[in-house]
Amino acid sequence: MSTLPGDVKDRGLADRGKQRIEWAAKEMPVLRLIREQFIRTQPLKGIKIAACLHVTTETANLAITLKAGGTDMVLCASNPLSTQDDVAASLNVHEGIPTYAIKGEDEETYYRHINTVIKHGPQITMDDGCDLVSTLHKEYPDEYLARVICGTEETTTGVIRLRSMEREHALRFPVLAVNESDTKHLFDNRYGTGQSTIDAIIRSTNILLAGKNLVVAGYGWCGKGVASRAKGLGANVIVTEVNPVRAIEAVMDGFRVMPMVKAVQIGDFIITVTGDLNVINEEHIAHLKNGAILANSGHFNDEINIPAIADISTSRRIVRDFVEEFVLNDGRTVYLLADGRLVNLSAAEGHPASVMDMSFANQALGAEYMLKHAKTLEPQVYTIPHDIDQEIARLKLISMGIEIDSLTPEQEKYLASWESGT
Ligand SMILES: NC(=O)c1ccc[n+]([C@@H]2O[C@H](COP(=O)([O-])OP(=O)(O)OC[C@H]3O[C@@H](n4cnc5c(N)ncnc54)[C@H](O)[C@@H]3O)[C@@H](O)[C@H]2O)c1
Repeated sequence: MSTLPGDVKDRGLADRGKQRIEWAAKEMPVLRLIREQFIRTQPLKGIKIAACLHVTTETANLAITLKAGGTDMVLCASNPLSTQDDVAASLNVHEGIPTYAIKGEDEETYYRHINTVIKHGPQITMDDGCDLVSTLHKEYPDEYLARVICGTEETTTGVIRLRSMEREHALRFPVLAVNESDTKHLFDNRYGTGQSTIDAIIRSTNILLAGKNLVVAGYGWCGKGVASRAKGLGANVIVTEVNPVRAIEAVMDGFRVMPMVKAVQIGDFIITVTGDLNVINEEHIAHLKNGAILANSGHFNDEINIPAIADISTSRRIVRDFVEEFVLNDGRTVYLLADGRLVNLSAAEGHPASVMDMSFANQALGAEYMLKHAKTLEPQVYTIPHDIDQEIARLKLISMGIEIDSLTPEQEKYLASWESGT
């Protein structure tokens, strides 16, 4: 029996996890460059990090990079269903990074794991969805909270929660909103969520998307990605929105836009990706098309009112991996994927490594930046400096073998001046 710290499903999966982590590493050249730099400069030497992230092959590469930079880190899952058990095992066994994550863990275990990483006494928090930071503030206001110097937050929903903490003067340390970097949301949210959400729907249902009506709720960064990828596969995409600007954007991108109550009547697939609550609610469930398949790719599993579906169901059963069938009391059948949790991370493998390369370059350089500047920062939400964002894009282009032009001195002067006109 191993005495390694951590709580994973099966340490015997470690070798398989290591192979898959190495596979992802091939697509993460920017993070590799940062790792090489971190080995030389040791920017996180002796610093304790508690990370609450989706435990995937890409996150493993981030953890390995942070460790190379000198940190003493622990990791837990940011979602009960997104953990890749072989990756968690490999981090524990091969990388010596205590990891507390088991795919399918119940809520009690999920929070026990978060509490365990908090008791590591982190100086930096690295969060995805703000569960770590909010637990730290609510349950450890003195002992552990006081030790934290700064944090980083990965996703849109986490940033929304942090801004709410900032508004209420509840936030006690500065946090970097990684999501707000251009090299994060423009790529990870759009191309990553776009591809992996469709991947998850295909893996779990194996249904042809061509010719189907596919409803995307929310035309934000993630929704744009899902809609465009579904369109590429031949689906008739319908968008629902509450923001008029985003709705016009969807119309001009060639999608039909209508209220959810109408969309549910014709949707074969309905995918929520809003970060909002009860986007599919009782009034929509009442009109769902028979056979509709529901999935969520937003952060929390409350975009689809699952209890309301259960309440009017006469039976429910698992019919395929990650597919639950509900027979409603009027005879209609509807299917829910992955318990309404982030479908791309639950029923597939999450974002491909190439986009996470940029997101996690932001995490690694962001942690270094926040630590270096923490003394001058207020307990607020910050964005990464523009030059770091640009540098990540520059390195990514170099890794792709793509060259671009630079401004000439004459153009620089022209673009900075106001005198010249017609
Ligand atoms: N699945 C993933 O791997 C992944 C990756 C990144 C972000 N996320 C999560 O996805 C969610 C969306 O992120 P984003 O970056 O696209 O956010 P965003 O703010 O860019 O877009 C969200 C959109 O949803 C719309 N919206 C809100 N309530 C709505 C409603 N009731 N009906 C229809 N539209 C509604 C908003 O107007 C907005 O346009 C967040 O929860 C985020 O944390 C998931």
